[in-house]
Amino acid sequence: MNVAPRLTGLVGDTALPSLLELDHVSISYPTPDGILTAVEDVSFSIAAGERLVLLGPSGCGKSTLLRAVGGFLKPSAGEIRMNGRRIGAPGPDRMTVFQEFDQLLPWRTVLGNVRYALERGKSMPRRDAEAIARRWLERVGLKNFVDAFPHTLSGGMKQRVAIARAFALEPALLLMDEPFAALDALTRRQMQDELLKLCEETGNTALFVTHGIDEAIRVGTRILALTPHPGRLAATFDVPPDTRARGSSGFGELERRIQETVFSAPEIDHV
Ligand SMILES: Nc1ncnc2c1ncn2[C@@H]1O[C@H](COP(=O)(O)OP(=O)(O)OP(=O)(O)O)[C@@H](O)[C@H]1O
Ligand SMILES: [Mg+2]
Repeated sequence: MNVAPRLTGLVGDTALPSLLELDHVSISYPTPDGILTAVEDVSFSIAAGERLVLLGPSGCGKSTLLRAVGGFLKPSAGEIRMNGRRIGAPGPDRMTVFQEFDQLLPWRTVLGNVRYALERGKSMPRRDAEAIARRWLERVGLKNFVDAFPHTLSGGMKQRVAIARAFALEPALLLMDEPFAALDALTRRQMQDELLKLCEETGNTALFVTHGIDEAIRVGTRILALTPHPGRLAATFDVPPDTRARGSSGFGELERRIQETVFSAPEIDHV
């Protein structure tokens, strides 16, 4: 992986080279009532191999931040850099998995969705793209559904396709915007565990957004808690590997610490 050989100096980092840096980023939306500040002065960085979770209540600007990292939105102040270069547009180095189940192309099969992304995103010949797509679909448990169309799949299966598609492109950074939020609790747990396994096996760097403390501890190596609207950094928590097991004493203790922080974070009026 091409990582700029420099050290990070931003919030909560160890001395590892950073893949992504957010430098005093604010993001505003024009609305009929004036400018709405969704995210205010947020700085953090992600080192290669980390899984950073942005945790915060509804409306605190998590999706806004993720869209800006994806290159779909420009910050109104500050800068976002990948490998030291300012992000100007979306690119195959950042693949996003969204919460919504409609992120697949409905007129393409499961295999077609993943294959097409590889053909487009990596300019790959069809045969190679198909082989890689099949491998990834098998890895997420959809070997027998490659010829199915999205509308015939359950929500969890659709999310599996979206995850397979994202991993297949081997992006430097995976962006996940509450991909399991619309699933039932049992499926959500299962998918969290499967995602964790895939991330650990591939060593992928990920930026994951959630409002669930449990989910944040389960999937993240580090958690950034955001304040309610507008989103600012409230606190950062490292998640040691032995804390990740549900039911472990470390899990419960970290959950309690995060809960205290999140619930005591001040509501900041926006101007
Ligand atoms: N396109 C838009 N135009 C105007 N305001 C927006 C737009 N998108 C988001 N907002 C506002 O920005 C703020 C942050 O929204 P955002 O969707 O980023 O929050 P979130 O943390 O992802 O919430 P949730 O957990 O509900 O998904 C909210 O006040 C929202 O109303
Ligand atoms: Mg959101």
